[in-house]
Amino acid sequence: MESKVKFAGHPVHTMLIVFPLGLLATAVVFDIVYLVSGNSSWTLAAYYMIGAGILGGLAAAAFGWLDWIAIPRGTRARRIGLWHGVGNVVVLAMFILSWVLRRQSPELPPTGAIVAGLTGVVIALITAWLGGELVNRLGVGVYDGAHLDSPSSLSELPAGAGLGGASHGAAAGERRASTASSFAGVNRRAP
Ligand code: HEM
Repeated sequence: MESKVKFAGHPVHTMLIVFPLGLLATAVVFDIVYLVSGNSSWTLAAYYMIGAGILGGLAAAAFGWLDWIAIPRGTRARRIGLWHGVGNVVVLAMFILSWVLRRQSPELPPTGAIVAGLTGVVIALITAWLGGELVNRLGVGVYDGAHLDSPSSLSELPAGAGLGGASHGAAAGERRASTASSFAGVNRRAP
C-alpha cells in the first residue's frame, strides 16, 4: 500500500523521522555521558537537541497521521498504525516534559527531566518496532507491485512495470494488480 504524502516519490513521513529518532535518542546518550562525567556541556547540548527533536517529531507525526488515515479500516495495519502513532505521541510528550523541566537550568537538569527522556526512548524502542512492522511486514508505504527490478520512483511508471509485456498504461496496470502481493518478478527472471 502506497504512502499518501510523498516527496520525490518517497514517503515524507519516513524522511522526517530521522530528526526525532537521531536527536532525541542522542540527547539521552548525552544525559548519560553527563551523569558519568559530570560535565554540563553535554546536558546543554542535550537541551538544544531535545528542542530540535520535538520540532522534527511534530512535523513527522503530522505526515504519519495523513498516511495512517488512508489505511483501510479493520486491517491489522490500521491497528498497528494506531498503536505506533499514539505511542509516538506519548514519546513526544515525554520529551516535551523533559525539555520544560530543564528550561530553568539546562546545564543542571533535575532528575525528573533525565528520567522523562529515558522513558521516552524506552517507549520509542517499541513504537519503532511497530513502525518497522508497518513497512517491512505489512507493506504500508511500499509501492503496489514493488519488486527487485522496479523502475525508479521518479519514472512515473508503476512499480510493477518491467515484468515483461507492455511497460505502461492499461497493460501495466493489469500487471501491477497481478503482482501486487508477491515477488513474482524475481521468480520469473533468470539469475
Ligand atoms: C515522531 C514520531 C514518529 C516516529 C519517530 C516514527 C517512526 C516511524 C518509523 C521508524 C517507521 C518505519 C519506517 C521504515 O521502516 O521505513 C514509521 C512508519 C510509519 N509511521 Fe511513524 N513515526 C512517528 C509518528 C507517527 C504518527 C503520529 C503516525 C500516525 C499514525 C505514524 C504513522 C506511520 C505510518 C503510517 C508508517 C508507515 C510508512 C508510511 O506510511 O510512511 N507515525 N514511523
